[in-house]
This record gives sequence, structure tokens and C-alpha cells, in this order.
Amino acid sequence: MIPLSLADIAKITGAVPDLIGDPGTLADSVVIDSRKAGPGALFAALPGERVDGHDFANAAMAAGAVAVLGTRPVGVPALLTPDVPAALAKLARAVVDALPGLCIAGITGSVGKTTTKDLAAQLVERLGPTVAPHGSYNNEIGHPLTVLRVTEATRYLVLELSARGAGHIAQLCEIAPPSLGVVLCVGHAHTGEFGGIEEVARAKAELPAALPPDGVALLNADDPRVLAMAERTAARVVTFGRGSGATVRAAGVRLDSSGRAEFTLVTPEGAAPVRLRLFGEHNVTNALAAAALARELGLPVAAAADGLCAAAPRSRWRMEVTERPDGVTVINDAYNANPEGMAAAIETLAVMARGRRAFAVLGPMNELGGESRLRHEEAGGMAARAGVAGLIVVGEDAAPMLSGARAERSWHGELLGVPDAGSAVAALGNLLTPGDVVLVKASRTVGLERVALALTGEAAQ
Ligand SMILES: Nc1ncnc2c1ncn2[C@@H]1O[C@H](COP(=O)(O)OP(=O)(O)OP(=O)(O)O)[C@@H](O)[C@H]1O
Ligand SMILES: [Mg+2]
Repeated sequence: MIPLSLADIAKITGAVPDLIGDPGTLADSVVIDSRKAGPGALFAALPGERVDGHDFANAAMAAGAVAVLGTRPVGVPALLTPDVPAALAKLARAVVDALPGLCIAGITGSVGKTTTKDLAAQLVERLGPTVAPHGSYNNEIGHPLTVLRVTEATRYLVLELSARGAGHIAQLCEIAPPSLGVVLCVGHAHTGEFGGIEEVARAKAELPAALPPDGVALLNADDPRVLAMAERTAARVVTFGRGSGATVRAAGVRLDSSGRAEFTLVTPEGAAPVRLRLFGEHNVTNALAAAALARELGLPVAAAADGLCAAAPRSRWRMEVTERPDGVTVINDAYNANPEGMAAAIETLAVMARGRRAFAVLGPMNELGGESRLRHEEAGGMAARAGVAGLIVVGEDAAPMLSGARAERSWHGELLGVPDAGSAVAALGNLLTPGDVVLVKASRTVGLERVALALTGEAAQ
């Protein structure tokens, strides 16, 4: 953060000082975990699911924090406000406004935000000091905390914007107004919460709508709902995508036997070959989005291609591939699941398994509302059509996958329904033989990563 005095922070946020000896004391970072507090930190106390941040005020101060930002007096120097996330948002906006040279890019979409953000950050870092969120820091708390990591040296801020309802993205754009906005896709993720896919589209369109006339909207030309957002922005529109009409596109896409995509990155300025280190064809679109963003910031096509070839996965459990010594390949894609991601993962499994036995351990896709049964049936059918040797369906909510798979009459693989991660691991113990490939995928909340971690030996089940 750019250093601000406690008096300045009080003024910006409207918070009331309590027990503050020297209002001129400078804070140069904001933390919400007392264990990360150090000299110069402002400790923001948030109510957690199990613990209350205010209980850690003393620990943060002992570690060197200069004050606490909280909702009630805690016996140490504090700035008191009824709404800590709102105060963080105001602080973040003030920091952004104090740095007019900072270039802000926002990335949204139903799937692929974190992956694209990680790729884009690795390209943009080639142009200058860049701040990007850790993992999926994309909500009303993670977003301002990421923004508050910028310093006077930062040139680029690459943000992931997530929406769980109308108005969320517009709010995030208020905190750090982007001049560039990437929209990846409008899919079925969270349709239950939004009400339907058209509502999801309207929410994602808040990003292009927030862009200024001298900004750039980067839109996925392969998704008609995204392309239609060209009507909703004052900014210049640039497209990316697999189709031949896109400004930044891929030619000659093929997956190698390990499941990684190779293609030629094509731009109006020239073309260059790319071989991704990420698994799955779906990552081509994410790579094109990242390249289109970096191109707008001035990265030449050869450097973008080079950067994409070098870009490593930065966030865990997204198509994370582990080769076991016995030749079993484990694909841990248990970070999250929705119909689009499920299809992409099953397709990649089929490619990677060519000539080997494939197993899919699939759990529920959450937040699909009234579409849930149908989408789970479809996923089961997809796994069967991909010719897996075994499909293990975990949990009651995913059970329609069983009937979806059974409906594929020509498929004769092993089909099992199990109640939890532990029984999935036990079942796999009887099924797997050296050389097999196993995909593990479900929504984050069901903890299916435990299956993958047990298979790779990273964690005792
Ligand atoms: N373009 C894509 N099409 C389909 N699936 C994708 C795509 N990009 C990523 N995925 C899959 O979707 C899952 C989530 O990826 P990622 O974390 O990048 O998305 P996200 O949009 O950040 O998700 P969240 O909303 O949880 O923050 C992973 O399983 C990943 O493999
Ligand atoms: Mg994310």
C-alpha cells in the first residue's frame, strides 16, 4: 500500500479513532490475518465463520501492527467503523485515485477467471511491476485487499471480478475502476443464485458497462452472449476466440498426448507458436484472453507466445496433474465444478487416457437451481460417452449422474455411487491398476480434493 497516516485513513473511511496516540503514525499494508501482521500493518478485524478477528487484535499489535480497523473497541489503538469491508473498499479506492499512472484490468466470466488472471499476470509482469490477486481473491473483501497491495512502483493491477448477484461487479469496478475489461464466458455457474443464464449475462455485462470511452473491452467472440456486450460499453471493443473472426485467435489447435494444447497465436501484428503448460483444450481460450489483454498493453506477439509457453499454474487444484511412481496419472480438478468445466475436464481426461483406462470420480456441481438434475444427468452421460472404464459418483446431490451414465446403453464401464470422499478412495483402491488415469472433480464445498490428495499421497485420507 502507499503509506497513509492513521489520520488520513480515518478521514478516507469515516472511521472514529480510539486510543490512537499519534494520528501521524503511518500504515503501509492491510492484513486480515494477525499471523501476517508486521511493522506498519493495519489489522482489519473481520467476523469469521468460526472466529472473530477482534479476538486477535492483541496478537496483531504484538506482531507490529500500528492499529486495528474494527467495529468495536479492543483495548488497543483502533479505527472504529460499523462496516469494515466498506471501509476497506473506500481505502482501496483512495489508494487507486492517488496513483493515476496505474493501469487497471478486470477479468470476469463464469469459468476461467483465476486461470486467465494467472496467465495474464505472467504476461503483464513482462511489461512492468504487476499486482494480481492470490488465488481467487475476487469478492468484496479479497478485491480491496488485493488493490491495497499496490505501491507507487506498481504499473499494472490485474483483477478477478466475481459476481453472485446483480450489482456485484459494478461495485467491484467502483473500488478499482478498470480501463480494460475481459469477459470470458456466460455459463451455468451460479445460475441457481442468479435466476437464469440471461441474468448471469446481465451481471457480467456490468464490467464492459463500467469501462471509460478510452478503455478497451476484450470480449470472447465464441460466446454470443459475451459478444453482445459490445453494445453495452463505451470502450473500444477487441475480440479473442477460436473462430476466424476474432482479433486475437488460435490456429491449428491440437492437444498433445499429455493433454496440453499447442497452437499458433494469431494477431493482426503477426503470429507465434504456443505450447501451454496447462492441461485441457479449454485453456486455449483463457490463453487467448490473456494474450489479447497483454497485447493492448503493448506486449509483442512473440513475447506473449513465449510468456504463455512459460506460464505455470499458480492456483491449485485446477487440472493439477500428478504422475505417480506406479504410472497412475491423477488429475485433481476438485477446486470447482460447473457444467462447462465438467465438459472440459471429461474431454481432457479422454485425450490423456488414449490407450489407457480412464476413471472419473465426480461429485456435485452446486448452485444450479432448477437445472441441477438435468446438468448432472448430462455430465454422467458425457463420462460414459467418453468411454471411461469406471465412473464413481460421490454424494446424493450428484446421483443423477448415475442415471445419465446408465442411459448410455452402449457403455459397459464400472458404475458406482458412493456417499463421500472416503468411500470413493476405498472404491478406487480396488479398481486402479498401474497406468490408469483418474480425474477427480466436484464443487469446492464437497471436499473431493481429499480423494485426489489421498491418491497422490499428499494427505492421509
Ligand atoms: N474456459 C474454460 N472452459 C471450461 N472450463 C474451464 C475454463 N477455464 C477453466 N475451467 C475449469 O473451471 C474450473 C475453475 O477454473 P478457474 O478457477 O480458473 O475459474 P474461476 O472463474 O476463477 O472460478 P471461481 O468462480 O470459483 O473463482 C477449473 O476446474 C478449470 O479447469
Ligand atoms: Mg476464481
